[in-house]
Amino acid sequence: MIYLDNAATTYPKLPEVIKAVSKCLKEEGANPGRGGYSLAIRAARVIYNTREQLARLFNVDDSANIVFTLNATDSLNMAIKGIVRPGDHVVTTMVEHNAVLRPLQWLETNRKVEFSKVPASSEGDIDLNVLEAAIKPNTVLMVINHASNVIGSILPIAAIAEIAHRRNIPILVDAAQTAGGFPIDVQTMGIDMLAFTGHKALLGLQGTGGLYISPDLEVMESRQGGTGSDSSGPQPKVRPDRYESGTPNTPGIAGLGVGVEFILKVGVKNIFNHEQILIERLMAGFKNIPGLTMYGPSVGVERVPLVSVNLTGISPHMLAHTLDKVFDIGVRAGLHCAPGAHQTIGTAEKGTVRFGLSYLTTEDEVDEAIAAVSKIAAGR
Ligand SMILES: Cc1ncc(COP(=O)(O)O)c(C=O)c1O
Repeated sequence: MIYLDNAATTYPKLPEVIKAVSKCLKEEGANPGRGGYSLAIRAARVIYNTREQLARLFNVDDSANIVFTLNATDSLNMAIKGIVRPGDHVVTTMVEHNAVLRPLQWLETNRKVEFSKVPASSEGDIDLNVLEAAIKPNTVLMVINHASNVIGSILPIAAIAEIAHRRNIPILVDAAQTAGGFPIDVQTMGIDMLAFTGHKALLGLQGTGGLYISPDLEVMESRQGGTGSDSSGPQPKVRPDRYESGTPNTPGIAGLGVGVEFILKVGVKNIFNHEQILIERLMAGFKNIPGLTMYGPSVGVERVPLVSVNLTGISPHMLAHTLDKVFDIGVRAGLHCAPGAHQTIGTAEKGTVRFGLSYLTTEDEVDEAIAAVSKIAAGR
């Protein structure tokens, strides 16, 4: 089977990730931070090591400012609802995932919060003057998609952060599509909060994710409970405990740590460059297929390793179905949980077929995908 749905989740996982999960279950299976005996200390070390690896990856000085969550959705909910209060305004973009849009819509309906969506071009760019003009006196947060999961475009986070910081507004970056595959430095990019998921380019397991919160930012925790530390009083203020009530997914976090270790060893820039070669190879092949439309930045412009396409005369779902049933190629059709991105590229009705590559995708797999789509196009 050729798996090209890596923008949804990367698969297969590295053997060393699977090994780390299994080792954790066998040898580090106690509740981390909830006991002083050797096994519990080993479990706590697993969590600490992964936190430290992530801090290296994102250039975070103190790993206590990274908290573990279930996924990017959980992180984004925690960050948005931890900052925004009734009467506040939020600036965001048209290309956001529902993991951003739906919490904002919920706050609009239930908490009298307003938000503005800055439009994007069909290549996924936003006009920074329009972004700045969207700021109101009651704007308390900017939530920005680092890379669109539909268009593939990458937004200039450092320039956006500069605009926000001029008005003392923090920025929350949705790095679901970039963490692990695109260099992220929270300090030089001016990121106040970074939401990431463990199961995409970070090569870890589903059910893992995290949120970096700048030490200077006060964010209300979204839930309270047992933290293993200071059991006598109310919710502790110390990080990461404040945001991590309840038993974490220790085996998942063990696997995530090994995924991040792999990324640090190879180098994010090398991963990004290799993925550019793969996606450009796919796009160069697709370019010669009659009736095939590719969306997003043109070849040569940096993008995350995904491309959304449509083939005239065949619906996205039928194209994905044929690729699966006839060619054993897994891709995702539809709106990809980002309806605004589809409005932006004019595909809001039926969506597109998205091809998502990863560092582990091979050139042969790319060529087979091109050949399969060519055959389908020829047989229409
Ligand atoms: C841009 C973007 N944001 C958020 C998410 C949500 O990620 P998760 O499902 O891991 O919470 C995704 C997942 O597809 C995404 O692509």
